[in-house]
Amino acid sequence: DVVSHLIKGKLEIPNRTVGDLANDEAAVISIKGQRKGAYKDQGGTVHIVDTTCTHVGCEVEWNSGERTWDCPCHGSRFTYTGEVIEGPAEKPLKRHDYQMLENLTSEES
Ligand code: FES
Repeated sequence: DVVSHLIKGKLEIPNRTVGDLANDEAAVISIKGQRKGAYKDQGGTVHIVDTTCTHVGCEVEWNSGERTWDCPCHGSRFTYTGEVIEGPAEKPLKRHDYQMLENLTSEES
């Protein structure tokens, strides 16, 4: 499975993938070298967003207490599906379809 691997801090863990996330666990992942945020909700559904803040492009970080992606630069906050909770960002984080990413990769491998 080369769809993605998890990143904890700066450490990449290549043999763990999004499918290995526990329910209610999030991680920053690398998909074909691009940084994404993944969260598996309590029902087991995986939500993947682009971690680039839509304000001026800092990288958002997971807030496990609130289950939000928070931007360290100017305080924008987003739900795990990418919707804006707090500005200054006005646009949602870009979303990615996990199934689509899986299909994309299996075609190439
Ligand atoms: Fe994220 Fe400004 S870049 S709030």
